[in-house]
Amino acid sequence: MDLKKYITIVPDFPKPGIMFKDITTLMDKGEAYKYATDQIVEYARKKKIDIVVGPEARGFIIGCPVAYALGVGFAPVRKEGKLPREVVRVEYGLEYGKDVLTMHKDAIKPGQRVLITDDLLATGGTIRATIQLVEQLGGIVAGIAFLIELTELGGRKKLEGYDILTLMQF
Ligand code: PRP
Ligand code: MG
Repeated sequence: MDLKKYITIVPDFPKPGIMFKDITTLMDKGEAYKYATDQIVEYARKKKIDIVVGPEARGFIIGCPVAYALGVGFAPVRKEGKLPREVVRVEYGLEYGKDVLTMHKDAIKPGQRVLITDDLLATGGTIRATIQLVEQLGGIVAGIAFLIELTELGGRKKLEGYDILTLMQF
């Protein structure tokens, strides 16, 4: 299946010059959402995953159906102040300023094999921070899966040494 046909390119969103890759027109087509999910599930099966981890919000859309299909758990990565119990935190750089991502301290047991999921690999900053959270908790990042990779932004370089699956490249 040609998944790219289901992605809508929206010029000048959220600001002039950006060609936004809208995944909602893939997600709302059952056959495409299932096909994309199945590709990631197949990859994850080979990696013997114990738990799936994804950053809010779009990482949930990709990761939760994969976790369900594998019969494993899903642990959310969230912006600071959203998780109610003790967390680990990582600050990461944005284009302007900083943001913080957190995970519950007991979300991952040391030695668990983790699949990280997100919709899009751009600069790699979000997933770099997610890796740091998983590793602080003693998790092993066994694989990272994205729907889309924006190759010119060099995110893959920032994630060097990790196994990465991307279903579409732009
Ligand atoms: C987007 C996208 C990825 C991230 C990719 O998330 O969903 O998570 O940016 O960019 P990066 O590789 O440069 O870090 P966003 O922060 O817009 O939030 P959302 O998922 O809640 O929409
Ligand atoms: Mg995101």
